Amino acid sequence: MSILITNIKQLLQVHKHNLTVLKGSEMQRLTVKENAYVYIEHDTIIEYGKMENCEGIEAETVIDATGKIVLPSWCDSHTHIVYAGDRTSEFVDRINGLSYAEIANNGGGILNSAKLLQDTSEDDLYNQSIKRLDELIKMGTGAVEIKTGYGLTVEAELKMLRVIKRIKRESLALITPTLLAAHAIPEEYRNKKQEYIKLITEELIPKAAKLNIANYIDVFCEESYFDIKDTEAILKVGSKYNLRPKIHVNQFNILGGVALGVKHNALSVDHLEEMNDKDIKALKNSNTMPVALPGCSYFLGIPYTPARKLIDAGLPLAIATDYNPGSAPSGNMNFVVSAACIKLKMTPEEAINAATVNGAYAMGISNMYGSITRGKKANLIITKPMNHYSEIPYAFAHNPVEQVIINGQLL
Ligand code: NIG
Ligand code: FE
Repeated sequence: MSILITNIKQLLQVHKHNLTVLKGSEMQRLTVKENAYVYIEHDTIIEYGKMENCEGIEAETVIDATGKIVLPSWCDSHTHIVYAGDRTSEFVDRINGLSYAEIANNGGGILNSAKLLQDTSEDDLYNQSIKRLDELIKMGTGAVEIKTGYGLTVEAELKMLRVIKRIKRESLALITPTLLAAHAIPEEYRNKKQEYIKLITEELIPKAAKLNIANYIDVFCEESYFDIKDTEAILKVGSKYNLRPKIHVNQFNILGGVALGVKHNALSVDHLEEMNDKDIKALKNSNTMPVALPGCSYFLGIPYTPARKLIDAGLPLAIATDYNPGSAPSGNMNFVVSAACIKLKMTPEEAINAATVNGAYAMGISNMYGSITRGKKANLIITKPMNHYSEIPYAFAHNPVEQVIINGQLL
């Protein structure tokens, strides 16, 4: 199988040498090849260049991309797309004035989703989730991190992992699974949080490790959820099982989770709506990627991650959807790229870098995804006709995607 895309108006994120991360002022750089082609064989990018050098290349499928932009597919490094049902009733409660915390305290929130998921069969859960993923792929996402965390019992968390495994096997998208058993304290453990942590560390993590699915471990490090000590205890056991941390920190309160993540060599620290200078200092000279989730800020009406402060301090930044039923029921990365520009004051170049190469880094796959580089996976977006790539974030809530190539297959 071979595909040749010709006459590309702007080919973005072209890199001769493997690009795995962009930091600080480097994020301003987005390499663009005008009037270009890309040649794909099977699932791999074989060649690219200027149209004048395309002569003689033949392919089974030729796509004329006159007037269109081609770029690497979005890498969504933070999602919770395996969930059951929805939380539309809480949505209306919030419109009527209740806060996210008030809803959670009344037994709604994550516990509400956990109840629904526990009562949903594995097949049904798979069908609901793969449908969501298929929609994301059509919107240009080619790689997706998926977390557990709506099980909250050993059996239901393992059920989630098995569903994620099946999705990973069946989908053309690249999936990286994360174990987020410490997402909330289950009703049965309301005043016995330490017992739930023991269940996670002594029973669930070893059983999850036997399934050999999860790559990463996550904790919701937040007031009323898991504090610094709890988080550290879970990360320590996770590391014994080779689960690298990717953690929820600083969504509502600053507990010191950023520095803790860095200390434990977290691949990413996510949310960061609240940030202080100590957090920024902790991230400097680390291998930990900060991840902003503007869709969550938009939906909950909470502050946006201070992206400028992070990038201007020389740090890298990735952006992701946080797609979940409670705080961000959208997996549209095009919207996230727009919101990064409009609300986080990132330039289009920074936002596109944050959603491609840095997103890939935040899921541990930037050796094979996130840029147009010979030998990398053929996951590409072909846009509708447009004058300049800045139109992708500019025309917010429009769908810029016309076609996608995922794992070398044209959809
Ligand atoms: O990333 N903050 C914790 N977890 C999710 C929300 C979960 C939910 O409300 O269902 C998040 O925002
Ligand atoms: Fe999340």
